[in-house]
Amino acid sequence: GKPPNLYAFQGADELAPSFRTFILDAQNNALDRHNVFRVGVSGGSLPKVLGKALLEATNGEAKVQFDKWEIFFADERAVPLDHEDSNYRLVKEELLDKIPAELGKPTVYPIDVKYLDDVQEMADQYEQTLVSVFAARDSVRVPMFDLLLLGCGPDGHTCSLFPGSPLLRETDAWVLSISDSPKPPPKRITLSLPVASHGIRIGFVATGGGKKDIMKQIFDTEEGRQLPCGLINTFAQERVSWFVDYPAIEGVSFP
Ligand code: 6PG
Repeated sequence: GKPPNLYAFQGADELAPSFRTFILDAQNNALDRHNVFRVGVSGGSLPKVLGKALLEATNGEAKVQFDKWEIFFADERAVPLDHEDSNYRLVKEELLDKIPAELGKPTVYPIDVKYLDDVQEMADQYEQTLVSVFAARDSVRVPMFDLLLLGCGPDGHTCSLFPGSPLLRETDAWVLSISDSPKPPPKRITLSLPVASHGIRIGFVATGGGKKDIMKQIFDTEEGRQLPCGLINTFAQERVSWFVDYPAIEGVSFP
């Protein structure tokens, strides 16, 4: 296969229009295939970039059809939905609350906060949610998101899959629980690596100089290719597209 795609821009503002085109392309592709667009989103800096990309309408272009969107969380923290650490809250504030009525309303699948005290149960319940949406209709072994939108932490983690974690070896479960995340808060759920790497398209966003060391590792070193973000590059190859700014790739040579 071909290597991952890389699109580099001056800054986050310049990145947004191309990111929008990429998302719309994935949307239209999915709507042609099954009349629904299933997207998995991360927290961190991603929701803000997503909001910027999707809410700044341009004329004469394909439309964002939010009423056909089903939004899932690639990872989530075991906190109430209005908590400052909640990825749902971030996505709500940066995107959902700002969608103009005429663009329609996405269907959103947050975690079930009934299980905040039992993070494994929370993971199992979220997996059941995925089963009811993906497997019941398509009867698949691994759910195939039409689009997964991911970030890459400075240590190379993505979703809540951290470097060296035994969770990276999971081959069966779709959603996993973490009780001791190295990045706070400690309790989280995350898509497993097989699910995170089976997206029909996978978009990573990495911006700012704080990312240049990890980008260099992932793209230029063998050890970096073993980190969670690197593993997704290796598995998913040209299904992956990176949207980065120049500071994030300073000194990276992309062999
Ligand atoms: C989380 C995020 C996480 C994030 C990376 C990158 O909930 O912790 O989903 O996986 O995507 O940490 O974060 P930044 O984009 O903020 O660097």
